[in-house]
Amino acid sequence: MATATPAAEVRYDPYDVDIDDNPYPTWKRLRDQAPLYRNEEHDFFALSRWDDVKPALADWKTYRSGRGTVLEIIRADVEIPPGILLFEDPPLHDAHRALLSRVFTPRRMLDLEPLVREYCTSALDALVERDEFDIVGEFGIEIPLRTMGFLFGIPHADQLAYRRRTDDALATDGTPISFDQSSFDEVLGALADYVDWRSDNPGDDLMTELLNAQVDQPDGTRRPLTREEVITYASMVAGAGNETATRLIGFTMQLLAQHPGQRRLLVDNPSLIPNAIEEILRLEAPSPVQARYVQRDVEVHGTTVPEGSTMLLLNGAANRDERHFSRPDTFDVHRAEGPHISFGYGLHFCLGAALARLEGRVALEEILRRWRGWDVDTDRGAMAHTASVRGWGYLPVRPHRTTEGAR
Ligand code: HEM
Repeated sequence: MATATPAAEVRYDPYDVDIDDNPYPTWKRLRDQAPLYRNEEHDFFALSRWDDVKPALADWKTYRSGRGTVLEIIRADVEIPPGILLFEDPPLHDAHRALLSRVFTPRRMLDLEPLVREYCTSALDALVERDEFDIVGEFGIEIPLRTMGFLFGIPHADQLAYRRRTDDALATDGTPISFDQSSFDEVLGALADYVDWRSDNPGDDLMTELLNAQVDQPDGTRRPLTREEVITYASMVAGAGNETATRLIGFTMQLLAQHPGQRRLLVDNPSLIPNAIEEILRLEAPSPVQARYVQRDVEVHGTTVPEGSTMLLLNGAANRDERHFSRPDTFDVHRAEGPHISFGYGLHFCLGAALARLEGRVALEEILRRWRGWDVDTDRGAMAHTASVRGWGYLPVRPHRTTEGAR
């Protein structure tokens, strides 16, 4: 058994909503005082330094995803349906990822840009005359839903129903979520009707490609995916890409309101926007905690973490490690220090990163075309608390009026 415990004064409770609202002071203390942190109450270990988290994300032989990547899911010890890449280890993960990568091409992502821009244009135009709006509820929630819809060819109403069902399965009010087999069934069942409809009505979309995809068999033959496999793939991609991208929009508006000088740089030079999106992702990772099942005894910072433990890899903390980044808490749209790990690292690196970047960039380009300045009311805003994602659930924005009356 592990013997070392953290410095007594450091406490990181992932269910403490006050910590979750602003985890950075706590995570700094972890990095400095308890680089291998142990939480007895919730029975997990945690790594927070860049040099520890990044290699651990790639070390699937020690830190397995195959039992889930959320603390509660690992605990619940449920059987995970095949096809959920996030919750798989090699060789199955690699085979499934290869198949998905074949249909999830850069070309298909690029083709979505005009559609995403068209949606942003109409959604933001509808807000232009308003003195205040909720950027999350009135825009941030919609953009990934629409983008997923364009990708899969899913009717909009079905996407909203899907979103409600997955949100219900993963919402936490500061207590551990209760996760059982029915939660999976709930999430996976949500897209089933649409998959059936699409198999009778093929189109030029990712769902149709999945329905036509061939999977390699161990005996060298190939077979089409089963209906259940298509449902699982589609649900997993939609689930992974929805809430995360919403949270990116909220953080974008917050950080730019709080740093008007940086915002001005983007207004004057929109070619900086892609770099600004990277900096926002680094500073405020929408998915800042990746849980892993410890597959074998491992020695970390002089302590043996026993097989069967749960390890939290705090990529959101590693992104602000002063051992790796200069001025890590400073928001700098010119930062040129190389990548963050907000999309993970290694074999599970986010499959939708290009799409998430596209959504963030197009949204911000269109926002800055309409408003050069705004304030956010963080006191009235509310953070959403879910098991694996953090960010604004509600964020009132008040656009500035210029002297001419324009915005
Ligand atoms: C700002 C938005 C996003 C963030 C911050 C984000 C973050 C992440 C992270 C941290 C992982 C790795 C998880 C782990 O190591 O256990 C991941 C994996 C994944 N993401 Fe994203 N993601 C975003 C958007 C998207 C989008 C838009 C899609 C799909 C269209 C998507 C699809 C996936 C998939 C399929 C995986 C699993 C890859 C694998 O296990 O091989 N993500 N994402």
